[in-house]
Amino acid sequence: MADIDQIKIVALGPDDAIAGLALSAEAHWNQNEADWRYFLSKGTVFGVRDKGGRLIATAALLPYSSGNAWISMVLVTESWRRRGLATKLVDTCLDTATKLGLTAWLDATSAGAAVYGPLGFSPTIQLRRLRLEPGSTSAGAAPLPSGHLTEFITCDISAMGFDRRDLLRELEGRPGSRLVSSGDAMALIRDGRTARHIGPLFADSPVRALAMVGDIAALETGPLLIDAVANQDAFLKGLTQMGWTIERPFQRMRFGRATNPPAELPFAVAGPEYG
Ligand SMILES: CC(C)(COP(=O)(O)OP(=O)(O)OC[C@H]1O[C@@H](n2cnc3c(N)ncnc32)[C@H](O)[C@@H]1OP(=O)(O)O)[C@@H](O)C(=O)NCCC(=O)NCCS
Repeated sequence: MADIDQIKIVALGPDDAIAGLALSAEAHWNQNEADWRYFLSKGTVFGVRDKGGRLIATAALLPYSSGNAWISMVLVTESWRRRGLATKLVDTCLDTATKLGLTAWLDATSAGAAVYGPLGFSPTIQLRRLRLEPGSTSAGAAPLPSGHLTEFITCDISAMGFDRRDLLRELEGRPGSRLVSSGDAMALIRDGRTARHIGPLFADSPVRALAMVGDIAALETGPLLIDAVANQDAFLKGLTQMGWTIERPFQRMRFGRATNPPAELPFAVAGPEYG
């Protein structure tokens, strides 16, 4: 096995989308080719290839506004783990973020948090990934009205403390995406590799947020995922009562100075890859 000190970290390009997707699929993640294409075109994705040229590890840095950036797609193929590749790749993302004066955020799996803590990331909020299998709710509700992207962007700015309109426009514009609203609640639903994903989701109360999830689930026919903010206790409890099961926790972490604190937390986020 090669010594990782000899290993070269390279910047990846659009042609690496399929190889990136193979890595995220190996980890049973839900990102699809459109997600990889977004990271490869709007962010900087670092990667490592083996001697045969196969992509074996990645980490992406996606710049947002107001001095913030998201790190994600930290993936190492199973046979190359525990040799420092993730540490090297995330360190490379942090060097870039520091040079650009960006505060770096990420949503870590438990294994990821073990890598990021020693690099200097501090924990912030916690998330829970939940899944709903088809047939868990009665199908056949009336279609939900479409939401307005400008209002959705305003809610997202309050929830994040910075503007992600380019990302939200792109996610909403994908084939299969739907931005829905009902009263004060609004959510985005989009395709993933194995399940449709709900989020971000904004509402004035847990009752309204749960009603919106119930309406969405009644209209969908396949498996669904949602990344709920763990502090939203009543929402989380309501989801499990509706048949959603908790798959895993994510720990949001920050590297660098604190930026504008969010005015109010969302009920569900865009996904650990986007925050
Ligand atoms: C998490 C992951 C990226 C780590 O990659 P890696 O190259 O093996 O990580 P490193 O070798 O840099 O690990 C550095 C340290 O982090 C800790 N660590 C790494 N993986 C760990 C795990 N699965 N469990 C506990 N600690 C772990 C260890 O302290 C390790 O040092 P050590 O090997 O000397 O004990 C890899 O296991 C992976 O791709 N997992 C699936 C996808 C995933 O969860 N990605 C993280 C998203 S936030």
